[in-house]
Amino acid sequence: MTDQLGDMRRTHHCNQLGKSDLGARVVLMGWVLRRRDHGGVIFVDLRDREGITQVVFNPVHNPDVHGKAHSIRNEFVIAVAGHVENRPDGMANPNLVTGEIEVLVDELKILNRASTPPFMIEDETDASENIRLKNRHIDLRRPKLQRNIMMRHKAAAAVREYLNGLGFLDIETPFLTRSTPEGARDYLVPSRLNPGTFYALPQSPQLFKQLLMVSGFDRYYQVVRCFRDEDLRADRQPEFTQIDLEMSFVGEDDVMEVAEGLVAAVFKNAGMPEVSTPFDRMTYAEAVGRYGLDRPDIRFGLELGDISDIVVNSGFKLFADVVKKGGVVKAINAKGCAGFTRKEIDDFTEFVAVYRARGLAWIRVKEDEWQSPITKFFTEEEKRAMGERLDMQPGDLVFFGADQAPIVNESLGNLRNHLGRKLGLIDDSVYRFVWVTDFPLLEYDETEKRYQALHHPFTAPAEADCDKLETDPLKVSSRAYDLVLNGSEIGGGSIRIHDKDLQVRVLETLGMDKEEYEEKFGFLLSALESGAPPHGGIAFGFDRLMAILCGSSSIREVIPFPKTQKGGCLLTSAPAGAARAQLQELGLKVTLIE
Ligand code: AMO
Ligand code: AMP
Repeated sequence: MTDQLGDMRRTHHCNQLGKSDLGARVVLMGWVLRRRDHGGVIFVDLRDREGITQVVFNPVHNPDVHGKAHSIRNEFVIAVAGHVENRPDGMANPNLVTGEIEVLVDELKILNRASTPPFMIEDETDASENIRLKNRHIDLRRPKLQRNIMMRHKAAAAVREYLNGLGFLDIETPFLTRSTPEGARDYLVPSRLNPGTFYALPQSPQLFKQLLMVSGFDRYYQVVRCFRDEDLRADRQPEFTQIDLEMSFVGEDDVMEVAEGLVAAVFKNAGMPEVSTPFDRMTYAEAVGRYGLDRPDIRFGLELGDISDIVVNSGFKLFADVVKKGGVVKAINAKGCAGFTRKEIDDFTEFVAVYRARGLAWIRVKEDEWQSPITKFFTEEEKRAMGERLDMQPGDLVFFGADQAPIVNESLGNLRNHLGRKLGLIDDSVYRFVWVTDFPLLEYDETEKRYQALHHPFTAPAEADCDKLETDPLKVSSRAYDLVLNGSEIGGGSIRIHDKDLQVRVLETLGMDKEEYEEKFGFLLSALESGAPPHGGIAFGFDRLMAILCGSSSIREVIPFPKTQKGGCLLTSAPAGAARAQLQELGLKVTLIE
């Protein structure tokens, strides 16, 4: 049997009591973190979302209540009434907000019993993530997760307050819709009323927010769920949250200014270091050239050097051939790392293989020689030029990548981040923002043999490049911008196309014929013809921003009910099969293709 609340009313949360409450009668309700039986007196650490208070059951003070307290176990839900007392001399706990006091209990209600929890409700846990996710309702009781979720609430509130203050309107957009392409696969929802047809869950509210601009709402925002069926990683979930906004009559600088203010407001609200604006800006070409990645972590050096011109005619055929075939040879000088073992170097080679690098040449710079299997292929002049370009000093270890530029940049860019961590070059207390601008509008997809939008197909080309759309599409820059924080892409946006003809030209460049673009985007094209203002916007990855604010290495730590790497919810066992009757109503029959 468990007790009813009766007329008991909670008076405080478990972090709220201190010296000023001595003698007060209080009622606390929460979970039993632990019970300690000290030969007669029973101590319970009572926990709620705000903190912990020690409550005491004393057989002398109240034998009945003390007797009842014997039956309570970890994670029981209880209500206690009693008086706030000083802890005895020397018994104060300086690690606890309420560490100077305790509550001497004279009334106890056991509101519910609990089976033994699968793991202790503590920040440090050795429970596997799978066990934690399966028992997420219990996992979420851990103080760290409680803090993360509460921090998330505060951040969302700060976002709303900031944007409301600037006259943005919070407007909802549909979830059951048509494909809104952002480069991932769609999640499809079958329609019962129209058998054989499907809604797509939005990859973002992109098209709707543009339509809202056409409707005249001028400043829109939404803290909104987006759905993308893509390969998952620590910073990707199939459903995730964006802080999405759009503005009319603006250029890049206007959107960036609002975005910078928003980030500064969120940081301030979260008690983080002050954010200084405006943020640095860097072109895509510079980011990829110097850091290998379009989301550069600029907290440390180890920049990439390009030595293609130096090795193009060298005796090292591998390097020379790559450059002659249009590829590049780039290098990272790991300063002072000549002491790395062969095993460590081999591990780096394996590391870059994940990014399709076919090898990782290296040179160890000794006092009097370069130690490496490849130095013998270079002339003194080539070595001098290389040494100068890469600032090669005794004690350094230099890594080389030779391949097509995207492979070299991605592999060395990731190696750079890996080395930065390994060498302790990254100061985690520093927050470095950088805007990446001037992205190419398109990239060429080798497998599909067609152009693809680097951002999305509604991003405006740079005005000066419009005439190259048909003749030299890969040379067209876009009016897109990404916001990068400590090597993580936390937001991205662009100025949009608001002219129908230009939108049609871009869709055609992407390989769509009239029939296809009319079918897929006819509604947008007709909106653009109906009086569309110039407009642009941005969306932040709210989960990624929160992971950084909470110091979490995975966005799963800041999402209440996240999914696993395979897109599953271990708590509810979703996704699951559907009953035959349900499928019948939808007019569907499931046949899995091998
Ligand atoms: P984009 O596709 O760059 O832009 O998305 C915006 C931001 O959302 C975050 N993000 C994700 N976070 C977690 N899991 C995912 N699977 C995931 N995918 C993206 C990233 C990213 O920067 N409609 C445009 C915005 C615009 O142009 O205004 C868009 O969605 O932090
Ligand atoms: P090999 O002649 O294949 O033994 O390669 C000599 C060195 O060049 C080894 O250290 C390889 O890891 C490295 N290497 C091979 N292919 C590449 C490549 N595409 N880029 C950089 N280094 C490479």
